[in-house]
Amino acid sequence: MSSSRDDSGRFTRFGIFTLMASTRNTLRLIVTVLVVGAVIGSGVAAKEVIAILNAAREPSPTLFNYGLAPAIVSAPEAWTNDSCKECHAQIFEQWSTSRHAKAADNDHFEVELLDPGNRQQYCLNCHAPRTPGEALFPTQEPAELDSLFTSRPEWLRAGVDCLTCHVRDGKILATQMTDEAAVAHPLLHAPELGRAEFCSGCHQFALKSLYFPDNFRGHFQQASLDEFIHFRSEGNDVSTCHECHMDDGDHRMSGGYSNELLKSAVDLRLDLHWDPQEKLVEIDVTVEGGYVGHRIPGGEWFRFVSVVTTLEDANGRVLTASPNEVLQQRLAASGKTYVMQWPRREKMRRSAGDFEMGKMDADPRPDTRLFPEESRVYRYATTIDPGRAGQPVRARAVLLYHLMGASKAKRFHHLPRDVMSIVHEAEETIDLQDAARSSEK
Ligand code: HEC
Ligand code: HEC
Ligand code: HEC
Ligand code: HEC
Ligand code: HEC
Repeated sequence: MSSSRDDSGRFTRFGIFTLMASTRNTLRLIVTVLVVGAVIGSGVAAKEVIAILNAAREPSPTLFNYGLAPAIVSAPEAWTNDSCKECHAQIFEQWSTSRHAKAADNDHFEVELLDPGNRQQYCLNCHAPRTPGEALFPTQEPAELDSLFTSRPEWLRAGVDCLTCHVRDGKILATQMTDEAAVAHPLLHAPELGRAEFCSGCHQFALKSLYFPDNFRGHFQQASLDEFIHFRSEGNDVSTCHECHMDDGDHRMSGGYSNELLKSAVDLRLDLHWDPQEKLVEIDVTVEGGYVGHRIPGGEWFRFVSVVTTLEDANGRVLTASPNEVLQQRLAASGKTYVMQWPRREKMRRSAGDFEMGKMDADPRPDTRLFPEESRVYRYATTIDPGRAGQPVRARAVLLYHLMGASKAKRFHHLPRDVMSIVHEAEETIDLQDAARSSEK
């Protein structure tokens, strides 16, 4: 089957999904033919036929499939997240404060999902995987989308919840299979739950392609697993996301929304130096990536980190220098940037250009995010007005984490300061005269 456009100009079918569905149908057909043959041959009761058919049904997999389909958990009616809370209170509290618990019922998701370019089932398949969208192609518009955020059904409010991750075919997915757990509820052995693939079923997927109808053929929008595999290939002995994100079974699974975690993920250093011969103030700003299992920041392509450096006089007035092309070129040759206008801003980020959206002959956009344990130095130099001799100057650097850029923030009705957080600050003051005198000795 080929892709076709519906009236709204959106593509409603695409290759992989159609292929998957038809393979499944072929299997069902073969099973049905075999079973019907057996029935005629041996006169087995109809009840047993149904049992055999059910046994031949594909079990709903533990692993997620990048948003192609919702999760079918088939939980008994009494199993709600609140029911799990009765015996797993601490885990419930941790999960309640996590982003997983807010994955669909939040303003950002509402604005993005209702955007004319986005109104598709596959968003819900990851952000609220118990969505009743089984019969839909991932690129189709979910039913009653416009009233979804006023009716707020239970599965939307719950987001990525206990049932999503832990329940299949009416049983609890278990990696341990302890007797104690088996007494409390029926278990299904699922070692996959303890592996990186479990997380990356939702944490790695492609950008929507501008050039192909199926929306799943751009480069990675989130590349957690790919980056994690790279991290391991550098000789790091960590084999799961869980080791960092679920220490001691912690279900908060913190990320960019946790300033505490960000502080541990990256460091900042500032060195201020006065060169009296050249009459130059030199500033080295070092940003250091920590022991993180992927690029920093990981996750969504629109997250980024920036470092803002400024140079001021004793009264807090920002300094400037005059143009000097010769000096600029000389400094550039030794890896330094001649700065005339402070503050200076550097961004460590990714962006989605034509190449990333699937256009083969376009140029890729640079990915300037930090690598784990990378040490990156921004080297600045500037001249000082001779009239300032004898006065102190102060350099300051601020390392910021951005949930998103300014234009996205505006769409989500945020002020720019609401979507950034200060991770680290560094400051150093130097007395120009003292430095000059000491070097004259
Ligand atoms: C009546 C109490 C009770 C309820 C209700 C309950 N559990 Fe449990 N659960 C237990 C006990 C007891 C264990 C074994 C000790 C432990 O791991 O805490 C367990 C273990 C587990 C395990 C670990 C299994 C393994 O072997 O790896 C998971 C996962 C789990 N429960 C999930 C859930 C979920 C999800 C719900 C809600 C649908 C739930 N439980 C409801 C009592 C309960
Ligand atoms: C995003 C997926 C996800 C969600 C949501 C989630 N869990 Fe888990 N849970 C896991 C994973 C992964 C493990 C660890 C499996 C392993 O490595 O053995 C786990 C482990 C557990 C265990 C085993 C004991 C322990 O301390 O590690 C229990 C019990 C449990 N979860 C209960 C719950 C309950 C109750 C909820 C809802 C409040 C919940 N989980 C929500 C993924 C999830
Ligand atoms: C069913 C899909 C799904 C699975 C499975 C899943 N996640 Fe998530 N996760 C999400 C979504 C959706 C968000 C974004 C929620 C938001 O911010 O709105 C998220 C957010 C996160 C964040 C960011 C939290 C923050 O504070 O910024 C981390 C970290 C994370 N998940 C880790 C994990 C780990 C580790 C696993 C595996 C044990 C896992 N997730 C499994 C869907 C999933
Ligand atoms: C060695 C530890 C480590 C491992 C392994 C690891 N992470 Fe992380 N992760 C971190 C730290 C620290 C941060 C906070 C810095 C950042 O945002 O990148 C983070 C951040 C994140 C975020 C939030 C990104 C953001 O800024 O919004 C997500 C999502 C995430 N990790 C998912 C994963 C997944 C999925 C895996 C496994 C494939 C994984 N992580 C493996 C340490 C780790
Ligand atoms: C394959 C799973 C998957 C699909 C499909 C998906 N997302 Fe996400 N989304 C995630 C994960 C995981 C994160 C969190 C990563 C992080 O914290 O950096 C996220 C983050 C987001 C955020 C930022 C949340 C915040 O408040 O910071 C928004 C908004 C969002 N997604 C909307 C959408 C929309 C709209 C669609 C459909 C067009 C969509 N997502 C499709 C997994 C998915």
